[in-house]
Amino acid sequence: MNKTLEAPVAMEDRTREEGRLYSPSASRNRGAIADVLGRVLPANARVLEIGSGTGEHAVAVCQARPDISWQPSDPDPVSRASQAAWARDVGAAMAPPQDLDLLAGDAADAVAPFDALVCMNVIHIAPWAVAENLAKLAAKRLQPGGRVVLYGPYKEGAATAPSNLEFDASLKSRNPAWGVRDLDSVIALFGAAGFALDERVDMPANNRVLVFSPSETR
Ligand SMILES: C[S@@+](CC[C@H](N)C(=O)[O-])C[C@H]1O[C@@H](n2cnc3c(N)ncnc32)[C@H](O)[C@@H]1O
Repeated sequence: MNKTLEAPVAMEDRTREEGRLYSPSASRNRGAIADVLGRVLPANARVLEIGSGTGEHAVAVCQARPDISWQPSDPDPVSRASQAAWARDVGAAMAPPQDLDLLAGDAADAVAPFDALVCMNVIHIAPWAVAENLAKLAAKRLQPGGRVVLYGPYKEGAATAPSNLEFDASLKSRNPAWGVRDLDSVIALFGAAGFALDERVDMPANNRVLVFSPSETR
């Protein structure tokens, strides 16, 4: 697919060893995320992950749920190499990473059917069009009984954590099109695409997991 990605791909310093990237935030949060995803992903799900980054979350969930098959993806080649290296080194049953950019063409044309669409820490470090295209992809390709799972920080009106407001300002100073997304806007976006919020899980460091399923009226 065409490249539209601009560096940096993350707002943190990462280390690298034999192809594997290490994300400080992923190493802090992956256990808690794997616990929740391990619970909410459908049995034997074919999972498509958008913006898999280092691949650490993907391998943690695959280790927690050996029944699922995981397709990692990222437009960034260094991230894809890291995902492959992690999968190889821990023996996780992951497909070779796919070059997928939600700002380049219709991703629905490029992907195999999936039972779960997972996207973590991406929609705030990308233009809003990425969230819109994520919802469109889910509407076109999520199979019956499937789920959409998002993870990240959100703005929640007066209840927004001060750390998320600071993060929002930091993102916008890098790129005015980026920013911590409004929780209600994300729920409305997926609602308009035919998905209802099943569950909102509070996570460490003021992050949330959002779990959507096709709404009955879809
Ligand atoms: C902050 S990292 C998060 C990585 C990983 N999901 C995690 O939680 O550790 C954001 C990721 O989104 C990817 N990304 C950025 N723009 C994208 C786009 N237009 N389509 C798909 N992925 C994108 C980046 O390459 C990067 O790997």
